[in-house]
Amino acid sequence: MKVIITGTSSGIGKAIAAHYLNKGVSVIGIGRRHTIDHTNYQPVVCDLTDENAIRELAVEEWVSTEILLINNAGMLGTVKRLSDQNEPDINQVLALNVVAPALLMNRLARACGDKTALTVVNISSGAAKRAIPSWSAYCASKAALEMLSETFYLEELEKGRTTKVYCVAPGVVDTPMQAQIRSVDQVDFAASATFHDYYKSGELVSPELVAQKLNRLLEMPYSGVVSYSLRSIE
Ligand SMILES: NC(=O)c1ccc[n+]([C@@H]2O[C@H](COP(=O)([O-])OP(=O)(O)OC[C@H]3O[C@@H](n4cnc5c(N)ncnc54)[C@H](OP(=O)(O)O)[C@@H]3O)[C@@H](O)[C@H]2O)c1
Repeated sequence: MKVIITGTSSGIGKAIAAHYLNKGVSVIGIGRRHTIDHTNYQPVVCDLTDENAIRELAVEEWVSTEILLINNAGMLGTVKRLSDQNEPDINQVLALNVVAPALLMNRLARACGDKTALTVVNISSGAAKRAIPSWSAYCASKAALEMLSETFYLEELEKGRTTKVYCVAPGVVDTPMQAQIRSVDQVDFAASATFHDYYKSGELVSPELVAQKLNRLLEMPYSGVVSYSLRSIE
């Protein structure tokens, strides 16, 4: 098996990459920065907001008998009410959180054809199903990622393929993204205190636990359910 993960420089993506490398699995990491040094780790430098750069990735060379694609790279964007933003960065957020996963699913599914077993994991968020004021672009992007995943799964079924598709909310995880959330002033983000409380009371889960729970989910028999919260996985 080969694992392809986006956004491995920090947080959840880095922990998932380490999890598979420790198991002796080869990992291809796609992102702007690389912080993993391992013989079985192949760093691929790519800004995933750049569609042309994604189109130029040599995905055909990565195909082996079994591929696990994990679309993890994501950004919150500006944490501010939409009407208070001078220059909304919705294009950037959608490019990274929705367009990049869609293009990678497209390219990998085509490269894998009917011969390679493909599993896709898209890292979603509770914000896909719950509107959080000041996160408009992020909530919209994760909701879109859920539908993209559900639709892709049904399309693969229609083609008679056994592609497994998951869209997984990891919970509240101790990563740089949470640090960014805590850095925003309450004036711009009404739920600020809640996220400071999660942190102070030790409610954030570690990225390593997320990697373990994801592995447990992937080892369960595939049921055709696409959307999961890792909170429900022991
Ligand atoms: N932490 C949480 O509580 C939480 C909760 C729900 C969902 N999530 C989701 O979990 C995923 C991982 O987030 P995280 O919490 O681990 O945050 P993180 O530590 O900030 O990781 C984000 C990753 O995405 C990469 N990235 C950002 N912009 C990129 C770009 N333009 N091109 C390529 N890579 C880019 C970052 O790399 P560089 O910046 O180094 O390029 C980094 O590796 C995201 O999809 C996020 O929405 C997180």
